[in-house]
Amino acid sequence: MCGIVGYIGENDCKDIIIDGLKKLEYRGYDSSGVALIGDGEYVFKEKGRIVNMEQTVNRDIFASIGIGHTRWATHGRPSKINSHPHMSYDNRFILVHNGVIENEVYLRDTYLKGIDLVSETDTEILASLMSVLVKSSCCVKVGIMEFMKIVKGSYALALVDTLDNNRLYAIKNMSPMIIGVGDEFNMLGSDVSCMIKETNEFVPFEDMEFAVIGKDDFIIYDKEGVVVNRDSYISELNSDDIELGQYPHYMLKEIEEQSSVIRKILSEYYDDGFVVDNDLLSELENSDRINIIAAGTSYHAGIVGKKIIETMSNKPVDVHIASEFVYNTPVLSDNPFFIFITQSGETADSRACLKKINQLGYKSLTITNVAGSTLSREATYTLLLHAGPEIAVASTKAYTAQIAVLSILAFCISDYEIDLYKELSKVANTIDEVYSLKNKIKDYAESYLSDTRNCFYIGRGIDYYVAMEAALKLKEISYIQTEGFAAGELKHGTIALIEDNVPVLAIISSKDTNLNTRGNVKEVESRGANTLVISTKSVSNESDEIILNDVHPLLTALITVIPTQYISYYAALNRGLDIDKPRNLAKSVTVE
Ligand code: AGP
Repeated sequence: MCGIVGYIGENDCKDIIIDGLKKLEYRGYDSSGVALIGDGEYVFKEKGRIVNMEQTVNRDIFASIGIGHTRWATHGRPSKINSHPHMSYDNRFILVHNGVIENEVYLRDTYLKGIDLVSETDTEILASLMSVLVKSSCCVKVGIMEFMKIVKGSYALALVDTLDNNRLYAIKNMSPMIIGVGDEFNMLGSDVSCMIKETNEFVPFEDMEFAVIGKDDFIIYDKEGVVVNRDSYISELNSDDIELGQYPHYMLKEIEEQSSVIRKILSEYYDDGFVVDNDLLSELENSDRINIIAAGTSYHAGIVGKKIIETMSNKPVDVHIASEFVYNTPVLSDNPFFIFITQSGETADSRACLKKINQLGYKSLTITNVAGSTLSREATYTLLLHAGPEIAVASTKAYTAQIAVLSILAFCISDYEIDLYKELSKVANTIDEVYSLKNKIKDYAESYLSDTRNCFYIGRGIDYYVAMEAALKLKEISYIQTEGFAAGELKHGTIALIEDNVPVLAIISSKDTNLNTRGNVKEVESRGANTLVISTKSVSNESDEIILNDVHPLLTALITVIPTQYISYYAALNRGLDIDKPRNLAKSVTVE
């Protein structure tokens, strides 16, 4: 949940580091800092957005080595003193850290006796520990190996030794970090986006590896100090993909990319029929139960996927919240198969499940938007979303892309009668039509949500699953307490919360449950609720506020979610909130 950038090369790296951090700001934005090594060592750090720190940087410095960090606080509140980089007690080592150390108290009390620490962070302990270990070792490399033996927890570290201006060090366990390979320079980053302007060639780390990086070369070692030879890969990411263009916010841009993403998915997976790895399909067909594991929005995509897979293939599917599965693992069937859904491919809760599944010897698939991500590399199979980088913390295009890919997977393991290519193409066209309703939706967001403290989305079946996602979206960017609720369940207690003017937004797309849900709408209206109905044409009433054209019943989530994304966007905009970087959140939750 923090962002790291490092550079070593010929050129001045101030702006390379700071621009790279700005591309990572979606990973965390409580504070930021840079360490610049040139004719001296300079550290600049500030609480809040990167621009706050940027304003303090002395532009006269020429630095050919630099490390930078943007923080999502885990140990120690957001503050200047807790922000990274942190220096060792003797000012020899400077480091930035993404992750959470589990034995920081032991490390401090055992190795740092008598050493004063100035911050509340586990990271500062690591900086001084490094200095203590290197002093008692023959060299930095051995010191790092000692470090990796005793430090427990997750870490991606970029480290500078002020006594050696020709080296940058990287140490990786659990948290993401990759090397960017340049010409007369090399970089480090939490993901590709912060380096793509400088290079498109990358080398990933595995856990418990470290690297010694120069401007012309680098060596990766395993924890025993044995050299690791790993091929680089070329990222297809285009630096334009991560630019905002004419949009005011990434979230709006990404909402309005969804129809193109569906078409891109079709172009990637369809070639005179849907093309998916045959071994993967065999594993799915031979399994007796499919287990989907995910978090947040990806979990919500998974429960829609369950409905689609079970309906098309009659294969039983369970969907698990990742943070529950690891410590509360259900009884598994004799031949389960696991599908991990993760936009970032780095979610620690999901990754912890995958590690457990791998230890149990089961096969797995990761559906992700990031090639080369940790969950992609550690699963048996990978299917990519091809959605382009999703920068806004609130996930939108990844959700619809995940459902689209799940529908293709379901189709490939079934004999279900559907022209899926045609139906998904129709979905893309229908999404385009929803875009034309955005001004009306904006007005609804204003009239229904400007001054409310709470809100309900209700629905049945797939509409209920979309209501859950709609509620998360509204909560995470407008901070309105919102529940996505099974429409039929309200009367069993929660309806007690309905009072005058409470907004209740109903999603209705199924002819089987249309009248039931409309009955529930009447129930809440009779208790003062301010209701709004999002419906599809074949089940609509002319009084419905938002009416969408019909798509295949299994694919309605792909269109009914769009108005709810706009509603969240405009509700937050009306409140003057930060759309792309909501409080307390981060785009990639790489701590459990
Ligand atoms: C969604 O809007 C949130 N940003 C969050 O719930 C997210 O979906 C969740 O953290 C899972 O992330 P992942 O898809 O990268 O694993």
